[in-house]
Amino acid sequence: MELVFVCYRFGWNQKGTFMKLMRIAVAAVALVALGATAVVAQQDPIAARKAMMKANGQAAGALAKMVKGEAAFDLATAKKSFATFEDAAAKMPALFPDNSKSGGETAATPKVWEDMADFKAKFVKFGEDAKAADASVKDLDSLKAAMGTLGKDCGGCHELYRVKKS
Ligand code: HEC
Repeated sequence: MELVFVCYRFGWNQKGTFMKLMRIAVAAVALVALGATAVVAQQDPIAARKAMMKANGQAAGALAKMVKGEAAFDLATAKKSFATFEDAAAKMPALFPDNSKSGGETAATPKVWEDMADFKAKFVKFGEDAKAADASVKDLDSLKAAMGTLGKDCGGCHELYRVKKS
């Protein structure tokens, strides 16, 4: 009885069964594709976090140019940088699983895994400061003030949790 019911539900007793199965298969493949980007981050968290930090570096570089007077203040560019920081702050903590302590030319220090709670708390603060900057920055002076705080977030974390470049 059960089997007959199942077969009926899936249309196996009708013509066009193949097309129905194909549709299910296509839907399944689409679902897998959707999950693929998330899976990439899981499979290669070192590459993912390095790429994310590289984006932080570029975003901070654009802000530094304005602060130094090498570029004109541009609110849209500043906001884009703050959004990059917020995004990184939200995603970074998940990119340090236990099996990613070495390899992939990581520059993360062992301390990340020894003091994971503090490390993650620093990302929370970084995210909050980026959000605050997005709200407070209106001109060059307010950008300079915000950059003081954000710069300390970058440096303070790197000091403890990133291998110093020689
Ligand atoms: C809470 C910790 C933390 C904060 C905040 C932080 N970083 Fe990082 N950053 C790291 C760690 C850890 C690495 C090393 C990642 C690795 O190699 O696995 C890193 C790596 C980098 C790298 C090298 C990326 C590469 O190419 O490998 C750059 C550039 C960088 N950070 C820029 C920044 C900037 C700019 C900010 C602030 C706007 C910032 N970071 C804030 C922890 C942090």
